[in-house]
Amino acid sequence: AKEPVRVLVTGAAGQIGYALVPMIARGVMLGTDQPVILHMLDIPPAAEALNGVKMELVDAAFPLLKGVVATTDVVEACTGVNVAVMVGGFPRKEGMERKDVMSKNVSIYKSQAAALEKHAAANCKVLVVANPANTNALILKEFAPSIPEKNITCLTRLDHNRALGQISERLNVQVSDVKNVIIWGNHSSTQYPDVTHATVKTPAGDKPVRELVVDDAWLNTEFITTVQQRGAAIIKARKFSSALSAASSACDHIRDWVLGTPEGTWVSMGVYSNGSYNVPAGLIYSFPVSCKNGEWSIVQGLSIDEFSRKKLDLTAQELSEEKELAYSCLN
Ligand code: NAI
Repeated sequence: AKEPVRVLVTGAAGQIGYALVPMIARGVMLGTDQPVILHMLDIPPAAEALNGVKMELVDAAFPLLKGVVATTDVVEACTGVNVAVMVGGFPRKEGMERKDVMSKNVSIYKSQAAALEKHAAANCKVLVVANPANTNALILKEFAPSIPEKNITCLTRLDHNRALGQISERLNVQVSDVKNVIIWGNHSSTQYPDVTHATVKTPAGDKPVRELVVDDAWLNTEFITTVQQRGAAIIKARKFSSALSAASSACDHIRDWVLGTPEGTWVSMGVYSNGSYNVPAGLIYSFPVSCKNGEWSIVQGLSIDEFSRKKLDLTAQELSEEKELAYSCLN
């Protein structure tokens, strides 16, 4: 039998946490043959609710779930974890300045970085979900210098999956037959959902999305804005932000990272830029990546046309500004 893997979920008493922990306990994230021990962290005001989630996990009698740690102590939460999914953060409230929200999250990610660096298992894989996701991940990386930068990522898989969903609806094809969309940049409304290299599996072989969706105007405008603004549309409809889709895509992100992407397929992940595609090095930026043997690598050599270039640069610009704002909060 396999040794259990310890998975940390921060903000576990929140909405995404409530959708995510049962998926992890059912093997959606790491496979249905992989036992897990869940570590759940939240803050003291949410301690009672967190304990309620723990009670439900016990009640669900998940065969793969070998233990649950529910705590408000960051050191206890981080100790020995192999995978860390960082969902906890400070939400933007009405009337708050961007800088104030950034400052709260910078201090949260700074201290949680230190705890992970000291207490997590060697080679722990980190996924930051909480917004501003890219910049929180960057702060975490800066304050956990001994965790390899390739182990620190942020979630743009939800945006990636949203793009697949939009193409599948438009063409009336199975979502599983659509592949190789790309989300470039920030998990924000400046992200660039790119279909230039995307294909659909048809009885006559793989066909470019651009060939099947005859309407270029739709692909260059409405498709992009729909994906960029999908989060806001969900809030408007549900009165709460995306939770089940966020949780599901967090599982997709970790599963593909650990178990690999199929040959010829890539996914989108926010990772530390090495300057690929002329994206400034030192930002956490969403790129197309393929994964093998537990490591991601940026897919190289894709052509970037002029339309795309502008959009890649615009979202990089926003991330540079966020980075500056985050650093100004440190002083
Ligand atoms: P929520 O407000 O329901 O839950 C957040 C939880 O984090 C709360 O239980 C809160 O007590 C906890 N928390 C706050 N500070 C903490 C700290 N220092 N340590 C541990 N826990 C802490 O929010 P929800 O809907 O679950 O969303 C969580 C985050 O995910 C938000 O920042 C949201 O913007 C982000 N998000 C990101 C997406 C992505 O694709 N990257 C998609 C959807 C949401």
